[in-house]
Amino acid sequence: MARIGLFYGSTTGSTLKVAELIGEAFDPTPVDLVDVRQASAEDFRNYDVLIFGTSTWHWGSLQDEWAVFEDQLTRQALAGKKVAFFGLGDQKLYPDHFVDGMGLLYEKVKPLGTPVVGLWSKDGYAYQASAAEVDGRLVGLALDEDSEPDRTPGRIQAWVRQLKSELRLMNSDEQVR
Ligand SMILES: Cc1cc2nc3c(=O)[nH]c(=O)nc-3n(C[C@H](O)[C@H](O)[C@H](O)COP(=O)(O)O)c2cc1C
Repeated sequence: MARIGLFYGSTTGSTLKVAELIGEAFDPTPVDLVDVRQASAEDFRNYDVLIFGTSTWHWGSLQDEWAVFEDQLTRQALAGKKVAFFGLGDQKLYPDHFVDGMGLLYEKVKPLGTPVVGLWSKDGYAYQASAAEVDGRLVGLALDEDSEPDRTPGRIQAWVRQLKSELRLMNSDEQVR
């Protein structure tokens, strides 16, 4: 079974809350939650799939702890892994920088040749511009706990279902549903 590690950076706790919901949505597949404050690239060794979660701060910047941790994302540390991203932001107050942090992480990881799973449609969002939009798609799941928190549970369910399918984690019951 694929071992999944979800690495998150969270300033006020919203990304942590969402990380927990994503972990629950994977049930029965276990997901380890790791705070990047306490992490090192050595921790990647324990996992086949890495989910990176970040919020965006200060008009388009990566969350503070991720800004410290991102240099540990090297070709060697990510060799043989698959990576998925999710990002939190506020499309109402920051419509020109919505979830930019997720895009910054993607820009760091993509050139290393790491396969990225969990690309997401931008349909249903109301932002103007995002560094996380590449070729008309979002590089991962975008969530807005500030201006539309009611959409978070449904988005998580749909995204995790997509990820399970991409990672072939579904059992035969779920596949026919
Ligand atoms: C000062 C400040 C700057 C922010 N800048 C952005 C931004 O540029 N883009 C964005 O999408 N969200 C921005 N946000 C919204 C946060 O990303 C959002 O509140 C997020 O849920 C925080 O998650 P966290 O508590 O896990 O760090 C900003 C929030 C604050 C308070």
